[in-house]
Amino acid sequence: MGNRKTDHLRICAGELVESGDPGFDAYKLKTKSLPDVSLNEVDTTTTFLGKRLDFPLVIEAITGGTSEARKINKTLAAVAQEYGLGLGVGSQRPAIKDNKLAKTYQVRDVAEDILLIGNLGAVQLNYGFGLEECKAAVDMIDADALALHLNPLQEAAQPEGDTNFMGLAGKINKIASKLKTPVIAKEVGMGLDLESARKLKVSAYDVGGWGGTSWSLVESFRNKDFRRVGVTYSYTGTPTAECIRQLCRLDKPLIGSGGVRDGLDAVKAIALGADVVGVALPFLRCYYGGGEKAIRRYLDGLIREFKVGMFITGSKNLRQLGGRVY
Ligand SMILES: Cc1cc2nc3c(=O)[nH]c(=O)nc-3n(C[C@H](O)[C@H](O)[C@H](O)COP(=O)(O)O)c2cc1C
Repeated sequence: MGNRKTDHLRICAGELVESGDPGFDAYKLKTKSLPDVSLNEVDTTTTFLGKRLDFPLVIEAITGGTSEARKINKTLAAVAQEYGLGLGVGSQRPAIKDNKLAKTYQVRDVAEDILLIGNLGAVQLNYGFGLEECKAAVDMIDADALALHLNPLQEAAQPEGDTNFMGLAGKINKIASKLKTPVIAKEVGMGLDLESARKLKVSAYDVGGWGGTSWSLVESFRNKDFRRVGVTYSYTGTPTAECIRQLCRLDKPLIGSGGVRDGLDAVKAIALGADVVGVALPFLRCYYGGGEKAIRRYLDGLIREFKVGMFITGSKNLRQLGGRVY
């Protein structure tokens, strides 16, 4: 498991692991030549699952379980605290199995106030995990929410994959009804479809749409025998923009993620109906390409672009940005 996590970091940092198109280019902002807004006064604050965010962005689940992962999580958490963002940790399964690894996920010492999201693979509910493990994941990091990730394609693209997804909706719903902490159903790059989302009685969705990091591609770099499957299916999935359009009908808190790369993507995601956006790969690339300084530079640029999008659509706040796309 530790090797797998190390492989994922190495591959995602250095290989071409993105595929497809998140679909934002198909949409244009409804701009206003007379916006009746002052750029310096646009309000990007929001509340998501009870936590205030200064900017509607969650740094998505990336890692945990190794000493390298610990450094990454601490760095991202400190930035999230400074910018008022949310943060997801990577799958906590290794630390549920070996408590010594818990510290590689724990970030509250540097990020007291942030929206902090725990993470487990939903399929583990078919492989011995239950309410106890979900509670342990939340307690381990003092999480505000627990993301249960759905990754059937990723599991199928690896030799050691856990591929029995039978009856999972019922098990997820049972956890969601018993756990005191909100549960988020999260895809990881194939795009959460409306039919599946409708079956889930969770507190929020994270669309994990197609067009960003492709887990099918990532796995194709790890195992020669499975390379064909990984590459073949890297072009299969629902684009992020389409997922957002579909899932916002369900009227639940919604994270728009998968290939969100700049402030314009983020503005369009919110205009299409997401409440916040989620970004993973660029943060990892910045971490390896210049550390905290590079992460700050990336975020400053993204936030500036986002505010310009709000300004030219005449949106004083995020609620007004809703629907300003065609
Ligand atoms: C190195 C790396 C590791 C990841 N590990 C996890 C994980 O453990 N659990 C999870 O739910 N998602 C994981 N993800 C998926 C991201 O949270 C996100 O859903 C996905 O990468 C799409 O966002 P992006 O296109 O901005 O990268 C990981 C992503 C990266 C890049």
